[in-house]
Amino acid sequence: MALKQAAVSELRTEFPALQKRVGGRPLVFLDGPGGTQVHGSVIEAMGNYLVEANSNAHGGFLYSQRTDETVMAARQALADLVNAPRPEEIVFGPNMTSLTFNISRAIGRTLSLGDEIVVTRLDHDANIAPWLALQERGATVRHVDFDPSDCTLDLAGLEAAITPRTKVVALGYASNAVGTINDVARAVELAHEVGAWVYVDAVHYAPHGPIDVQALGCDFLVCSVYKFFGPHVGALYGRYELLDGLPAYKVRPAGDAPPDKFETGTQSFEAMAGAAAAVDYLASVGRRYGDDAAGRFPGFAGRRRELKLSIEAVRAYERALCERLVSGLQEIPGLRIYGITDPDRFDQRVPTVSFTLDGLRPQEISQRLSQANIFAWAGNFYALAVTQRLGLEEQGGLLRVGLAHYNTADEVDTLLDVLDDMPR
Ligand SMILES: Cc1ncc(COP(=O)(O)O)c(C=O)c1O
Repeated sequence: MALKQAAVSELRTEFPALQKRVGGRPLVFLDGPGGTQVHGSVIEAMGNYLVEANSNAHGGFLYSQRTDETVMAARQALADLVNAPRPEEIVFGPNMTSLTFNISRAIGRTLSLGDEIVVTRLDHDANIAPWLALQERGATVRHVDFDPSDCTLDLAGLEAAITPRTKVVALGYASNAVGTINDVARAVELAHEVGAWVYVDAVHYAPHGPIDVQALGCDFLVCSVYKFFGPHVGALYGRYELLDGLPAYKVRPAGDAPPDKFETGTQSFEAMAGAAAAVDYLASVGRRYGDDAAGRFPGFAGRRRELKLSIEAVRAYERALCERLVSGLQEIPGLRIYGITDPDRFDQRVPTVSFTLDGLRPQEISQRLSQANIFAWAGNFYALAVTQRLGLEEQGGLLRVGLAHYNTADEVDTLLDVLDDMPR
């Protein structure tokens, strides 16, 4: 059951930024893939932490104890979001990129000359560059291609790239450039056949689809809370035995057990407070608007079940909105969408739709949309391998429209009207 328009209208009132007007007109945020707007409860939780608990961790006094509780609650929240068995399997960090460099460096210490790592051209560079860096340690990196006609990953190529020397397969759950969802479960199956670990970048997928690290069987999965209505902080799930066994780069007095050993220096505790609130917000969407019939999602209870109900409702709503967007874009002369456009295959994409428009560079389109208070990114979005493979780097990449559950059909129609009328 999809979120109803009335539910979305209600939810929108809870996001302070969505109430803003510039030049007397509302703002249309279609830039979610670069970072979503923040729910009011998140802002409140962060402010509250800074007043009621602000301290460093592991002290003997009240505010420090409250900080430790904040950290524990945030770990539990993220564990619930990704269905991790234990909260100690959640590592926080400044962002996904830093966490990934952190883990790749640690894995690098375990590699031998000629060990192999598989990456994909559909990925954000934050799941490529940290692995390329291991070439310095003698690792060989293999690149898996995608089909430029619909921007889906070449699964046969993935299978061929995995060899008995493969140690890590790094791939995205969904592309932040063109919206394709990858068959991560299949990648895990292939990787585990040769004993390789799978490192999943779920940054782009997290606001749009359910994540279950146990069902996937992946070894690591990373996401960024600022992409799902929270603050700027990253979170990594790693299987406990792996986190425990990997040699972290750490200062000597810091804890030797996971996750502390990977959390270098003092963390942003206020962001962790916000992360827990963001997950609670998502769960509340399920509680308020999900299809809560008895017997659904057996084995899931409490917040984990509410998160399932939430993302199910969000996904169905976003799919319908995405259909409206794609069919509208297809009516605009000279506009070319990169990625899946067949609505029957929309279960293989998130509602992130990128395109080029004859006669205008993506950056010009973005600037003109901005004059109409419509915010959308242009460029390669750090998914450099995607725009290179599509031959679009020289032309300035793509214009990306990213829908989130707080976007509306009216906003999509406004965008389509402005694009249609855009002088070229
Ligand atoms: C798919 C994907 N992976 C990784 C990143 C990098 O995330 P962070 O900014 O948290 O380092 C982004 C950011 O846009 C992204 O979209």
